Amino acid sequence: MQPLKERFTPRSYPDHIEEKIQQFNTQGYLLPPCHVLRTPEQIEGIRESGRINTLLLDYLSEHIREGISTAEIDRLAYEFTLSHGAIPAPLHYEGFPASICTSINEVVCHGIPSEQEILREGDIMNVDVSTLYNGYYSDASRMFLIGDVAPEVKKLVRVAKECLQIGIEAAQPWAQLGDIGAAIQAHAEKHHYGVVRDLCGHGVGLKFHEAPDVEHFGTPHTGLLIVPGMTFTIEPMINLGTWEVYTDAADGWTVRTDDDLPSAQWEHTLLITEKGNEILTY
Ligand code: MF3
Ligand code: CO
Repeated sequence: MQPLKERFTPRSYPDHIEEKIQQFNTQGYLLPPCHVLRTPEQIEGIRESGRINTLLLDYLSEHIREGISTAEIDRLAYEFTLSHGAIPAPLHYEGFPASICTSINEVVCHGIPSEQEILREGDIMNVDVSTLYNGYYSDASRMFLIGDVAPEVKKLVRVAKECLQIGIEAAQPWAQLGDIGAAIQAHAEKHHYGVVRDLCGHGVGLKFHEAPDVEHFGTPHTGLLIVPGMTFTIEPMINLGTWEVYTDAADGWTVRTDDDLPSAQWEHTLLITEKGNEILTY
């Protein structure tokens, strides 16, 4: 163990924030590794990727309705992405067999689109899309309500969206990752919902999933320092009942709530700026 002041830090943070970073370093804050800070050129690349990703979600929203299969939505996503000169990042990612994730009702995330799965009145569905364009990754998801949805489930979807918004507000330069998680957890638990702990947000941009992990629960004033130039997702998964989940052994992907009660999730890719943040998937 070294005294704090002598802790080794590579001196290759951008010049304009180097001094500020070293101040936090001497105070004992956990610093992000230099490699998670983006150059202006990289930021523009991720922004372009995010633009296509958002166009894709807008496009899919025009087709999502009762009676369509999730496989059909997946095909639309594949065609749209390729026609924009991009690649669906999930396709073949660690063996994932489709271009998007479609997660209905008690499925928390990583649902695999299927011909057999037809949207029915009362369903809620998360569609999670990630785009690789010109070497840069972006990642976002939204919820869709099919016809008339039970009021308590509608409320879950609304509060999950508020959790994302509250998390984004907490994602300020020179705050800490624990501030994001704590803000999300407080809002969800106020409504007696469960916050999923086994899956988290993540750095994104040069890779699909990279450092740091961004948890959706936590303690204020703890965790990694948030620094301008970071790009990461916030993607809280909020459960009507227990926070506990399991992965379906049959496909190795589909994550479900332990109690089979519904789950809702919204996701954006964020850039931390010197003044606040920018949503790259709006
Ligand atoms: N898009 C998901 C996320 O938000 C990850 C999906 S991994 C996949 O991080 F392989 F299922 F696509
Ligand atoms: Co993500």
